[in-house]
Amino acid sequence: MMPRVLALAAAGLLCGAFACSSLAQEPGAADASAGGHGATSNRTFEDVQHWTAVFDDPNRDAWQKPAELVAALGLSAGATVADLGAGTGYLAPYLSRAVGPDGTVLLVDTEPTLIEHMRSRAEAEGLRNATPVLASANNPRIPRGSADLVLIVDTFHHINDRVTYARGLRETLRPGGRIAIIDWQKRELPVGPKGPHKLARAHIVTEMKQAGYEIVEEPDVLPYQYFLIFRPAPTPPVP
Ligand SMILES: C[S@@+](CC[C@H](N)C(=O)[O-])C[C@H]1O[C@@H](n2cnc3c(N)ncnc32)[C@H](O)[C@@H]1O
Repeated sequence: MMPRVLALAAAGLLCGAFACSSLAQEPGAADASAGGHGATSNRTFEDVQHWTAVFDDPNRDAWQKPAELVAALGLSAGATVADLGAGTGYLAPYLSRAVGPDGTVLLVDTEPTLIEHMRSRAEAEGLRNATPVLASANNPRIPRGSADLVLIVDTFHHINDRVTYARGLRETLRPGGRIAIIDWQKRELPVGPKGPHKLARAHIVTEMKQAGYEIVEEPDVLPYQYFLIFRPAPTPPVP
């Protein structure tokens, strides 16, 4: 029998983090998006070995710039950060270091196999402040009022009814809490998924505004993804 790694290579699936178009057409990855700028990707993520090869590909660091990305978040020691759609935990070591031993990293995902993988990974790598959280599609299961920052990397486009979802995220934030969204620029890129489910930056800003947020910062550190930081807009006074 062909070893799994060879089988993946033969199928053209081990060709670099996000860089292979066949990954975007992942078998079993029903992409229900019908096109249009509000489309949602319904790809599945249960195959840990496959997604580890993709998300943790060392070549990813060159453009994902995890250290610079996390530095730009401006996390304080002792903060609580929720990585929503944490995948295999690619950013977990960087986030863990940024918030330090008194901080908390919630590794939130809807995929039980990835949650189990991140639990093992956190233990193996000694990330004592990291806790995996099994979310449901419409509920991140982040404790109310706990998060100083909710970070959403390449995941917002997987969420259905994003405006309602983002509105609900407000309850998870501490006073002063922020939401950072990083996602693919809607143009031809040498890396990342192909297809119609990429969301334009302006579309995200509009949806977040509808959900009650205002943009406060836009760090310029990533070549292929926009990086938007929001905070809840002041609630208008009740007349
Ligand atoms: C493209 S991956 C990104 C993984 C990770 N953020 C990274 O950059 O390496 C999207 C992840 O979002 C998760 N996901 C999809 N829908 C979700 C939802 N509604 N809530 C939380 N996670 C979700 C998937 O299981 C998957 O792990």
